[in-house]
Amino acid sequence: MKKIEIIAHRGASAVCPENTMAAFERCLEQGATGIETDVQMTSDGRLVLIHDETLTRTTGAEGWVKDKTYEELRELDAGSWFNTEFAAECIPALEQLFGLIRGKNILLNLELKNGIVSYKGMEEKIVQVIRDWDLEQQVILSSFNHASLVRCKRLAPEIQTALLYMEKLYRPYDYAVKLEASALHPYKFAVTREEVAASIAQGVATHPFTVNDPEEMKAMIEMGVQGIITDVPDVLAALTAAHTR
Ligand code: G3P
Ligand code: MG
Repeated sequence: MKKIEIIAHRGASAVCPENTMAAFERCLEQGATGIETDVQMTSDGRLVLIHDETLTRTTGAEGWVKDKTYEELRELDAGSWFNTEFAAECIPALEQLFGLIRGKNILLNLELKNGIVSYKGMEEKIVQVIRDWDLEQQVILSSFNHASLVRCKRLAPEIQTALLYMEKLYRPYDYAVKLEASALHPYKFAVTREEVAASIAQGVATHPFTVNDPEEMKAMIEMGVQGIITDVPDVLAALTAAHTR
């Protein structure tokens, strides 16, 4: 069985609070070859890693990320909701994750969470910080907001993009080529063997999300996907190791 990218969804989110430095560090120990994380923007323009547009679920605080300054967000406990042993975890700045992965052979999938909130200037900011850190070759930008990905591509043709989608699309590989996207990131039930094959023929990769069941992982690998986004990178790493021996 071919080696594929093991992309940890929000870090090692099955065993650590999602999108924290603890989760990112743990997934690398578990054998992840890539990390997926969610990017939002504070009121003072800092890029931070948190899935929800609002703070309640993962910090217990009221309000929206977009309305808080970076300093205000840094006061919040982003770990206790998962387990009190993680009470010291904050909402990370994007640069903290860059510090962890730079110099390592790790793919970084940054998902722009700009479908519900239209963060003004987010694309310019993310391109600038990626260039400042010389990470253009290590990052793939994704979003459910495909217009935003086109904007990113225009700003930075050298940075790869990936189209996120939930429902089935008609000839998604043609759409990817049109938008100059390098990859499709479909919800797992929107993937078919025929589309994976057609995508390969067009030079487009497929990285389905979020696949946690080993049987589903095997089925995806047999279809020919180039990577899998999973909450359990250790399970996928064990599976791919078993099949390459
Ligand atoms: O990028 C894959 C996946 O993370 C997209 O959905 O809601 O988990 O961010 P969500
Ligand atoms: Mg995500």
